[in-house]
Amino acid sequence: MSVADIFETMEYGTAPEAAAEALAWLVDQGDRFGHFIDGAFTKAGDGFDSKNPATGEILATLSQATQADVDAAVKAARKAQPKWAALGGHGRAKYLYALARLLQKHSRLFAVLEVMDNGKPIREARDIDVPLAQRHFYYHAGMAQLMDSELPDAEALGVCGQIIPWNFPLLMLAWKVAPALAMGNTVVLKPAEYTSLTALLFADICRQAGLPKGVVNIVTGDGAVGEMIVNADVDKIAFTGSTAVGRRIREATAGSGKALTLELGGKSPYIVFDDADLDSAVEGLVDAIWFNQGQVCCAGSRLLVHEPIADRFYAKLRARMNKLRVGSPLDKSIDVGALVDPVQLQSVSSLVEANTAGERFVSEAELPAEGCFYPPTLITGLNPADTLMQEEIFGPVLVSTTFRTPAEAVQLANNTRYGLAATIWSENVNLALDIAPKLVAGIVWINGTNLMDAAAGFGGVRESGFGREGGWEGLSAYTKPKGNAKPLKSIDAFTGEGAPADPVDRTAKLYIGGKQARPDGGYSAPVWGKSGALLGHASLANRKDVRNAVEAAQAAKGWSRTTGHLRAQILYYIGENLAARHDEFANRLNAMQGGKSGAKEVDATVRRLFTYAAWADKYDGQVHGVPIRGVALAMKEPVGVIGALCPAEAPLLGLISCMAPAIAMGNRVILSASEPFPLSATDFVQVLETSDVPAGVVNILTGPQSDIADPLARHMDVDAVWSFGAGELSGIIEKGSAHDLKRTWVNNSIARDWHGTAGEGREFLQAATEVKNIWVPYGE
Ligand code: NAI
Repeated sequence: MSVADIFETMEYGTAPEAAAEALAWLVDQGDRFGHFIDGAFTKAGDGFDSKNPATGEILATLSQATQADVDAAVKAARKAQPKWAALGGHGRAKYLYALARLLQKHSRLFAVLEVMDNGKPIREARDIDVPLAQRHFYYHAGMAQLMDSELPDAEALGVCGQIIPWNFPLLMLAWKVAPALAMGNTVVLKPAEYTSLTALLFADICRQAGLPKGVVNIVTGDGAVGEMIVNADVDKIAFTGSTAVGRRIREATAGSGKALTLELGGKSPYIVFDDADLDSAVEGLVDAIWFNQGQVCCAGSRLLVHEPIADRFYAKLRARMNKLRVGSPLDKSIDVGALVDPVQLQSVSSLVEANTAGERFVSEAELPAEGCFYPPTLITGLNPADTLMQEEIFGPVLVSTTFRTPAEAVQLANNTRYGLAATIWSENVNLALDIAPKLVAGIVWINGTNLMDAAAGFGGVRESGFGREGGWEGLSAYTKPKGNAKPLKSIDAFTGEGAPADPVDRTAKLYIGGKQARPDGGYSAPVWGKSGALLGHASLANRKDVRNAVEAAQAAKGWSRTTGHLRAQILYYIGENLAARHDEFANRLNAMQGGKSGAKEVDATVRRLFTYAAWADKYDGQVHGVPIRGVALAMKEPVGVIGALCPAEAPLLGLISCMAPAIAMGNRVILSASEPFPLSATDFVQVLETSDVPAGVVNILTGPQSDIADPLARHMDVDAVWSFGAGELSGIIEKGSAHDLKRTWVNNSIARDWHGTAGEGREFLQAATEVKNIWVPYGE
């Protein structure tokens, strides 16, 4: 073949990467692996084979952890944790740095082992997975170093259980282990059963780095082992994987007090406008959906094309697809490798075969005769409700439809239960930056796709889970506020039989959609003062009232689009109007609670309103410097509709401590008032009515919080639920939220000093915002 012929056909020769070193490492380990517990490998137990999905060859035998193994790993991590945290930021930074260096030193071994175990192309493992894993350790070595000075009020959670999937085995390990260790936690990690080998190599690296024993523990096995970790004595579970398992973990940890972050599935839109650079948009799709065979949670798997260019774009795309090379993952010149396992291959093909809608195009790529290979596939002309437009395929299959206007593109993009990522392709910066904030997603890429970096938070909304990994925002997933929390004691309402102080019936109504509303059930309950005097009646809200309040809050969407400046003015105004009625509120608090602390509580409440008026236009996002020709804009966005069970104690201050940060950040709220002392909340309605607060922004319900918690947690139009109420409510909320995986912030085991710094500040602002990372091109 002449050079001219080669140019004509673009045929490449093969360029296989040698597997010898990786195979030798496996042989050195005896081909049978135990677990890595307390700094040493255990003897291999009963187990299962780990296979190369491209060839079917058995690479090693892994052990299925028993309950005793998991217990031993948790015990080792528990024992190691205080000393590890006490090393201080610099002490830990040195170890993280050493791990980063060793990952770098052995990077080829890691890449080749990853490829053999997972089936991904060597080009990707070598150039993306392994360098990014190193980057995470370097970056978080820095975070450990800075923790003492930059996060003086934060401390480690304790022992973290970490369960990771098979699509980026080493990278997901790095995402989980690096920040946990940096913040002073110890870990028990379970890799996915298909792909545990690089985690075991990492264990070896931990030994080489002299990491104190017990800081990193790795147990292998299937979902049953994952369940054991979830149920073990750990302080946090960090999970990446399918939405179905994420939901199960949410249910299993409900009410346990364990912290939880979930990075789940996605069906991320990839939007191509008619003014896009079509060739680069096509090339972007190669990275969006054929990267890692489409087994990527944030894959741009749902293509939305502007109608005027659709035919031209599809033609270019099909031509490009025909040039994709599918083949041996160890070959440096292939684009698409093997799916992870025959089970995944079966799952992808059965989803595609069951589809009868649209038009299917399959690339002409020649597939190897053996192994888990699936051809790059495009299905056009689907309807938004078609299964393949809604379900995560997790394979090299792109589905597509067209749109006519930017508004329709946004509607289609958001027409999913997921909210992980989105890609916009347009040469018009105005259009791209107009669309980005409208997309319901944790990450938006403009004229790029699947960009990830340790400095930028990664994570989603809706059923894509909650919590962020990476960046400053990711650290909160591995820390808690310092201090010895006092346990919360429940407060009973006073009882009495006294005659009403005022013979006129005083039944406080609910406050829904800017109006005082009678409760749907028509019931109310007396509120007695400490002296036994009848102070009035409070309405008993039921699930219908919750629904009405959610509807009203949803209708007040305009609030989320207002400026911080406007919200600040309204908060100041609320504060001013409350101050004007200082004595009346102080007397009410004294009458309800007894004692004379009412005036102090009203003063503190006014101050708190001013604090959040101040924050309304100052809780800024960040610009993350990421190592590309671009930046990631970490934008703070409102969560949406937040339901909050306010504390029983501090009936006015507690109510405002929930309301003010939420509405300052642009959320609409449904507040469930202090159960024993509800009347300050209902009096407060008059302050709201005179303070220019738009209808539906603040809704106030009274009655037993146990009746309100469950419908709030289950309501699909509520985006987050907070609880400062009685202990048992946290379980109800967390369990109810599993349904749509909404964010929860339950604090009910901790007695907060509402007058002190624990009652306000960044912790509240963080709960009141989502961070959306928008990657934009920037610089040369
Ligand atoms: P999976 O969610 O079952 O597995 C992920 C991890 O969770 C593995 O380590 C597994 O052993 C563990 N696990 C399984 N059941 C568990 C349980 N009850 N408690 C605790 N841990 C448990 O994912 P699977 O079955 O391997 O893949 C199925 C589908 O999930 C894929 O086709 C894809 O759609 C999605 N997926 C999404 C991922 C993502 O990154 N978002 C990653 C992997 C899978």
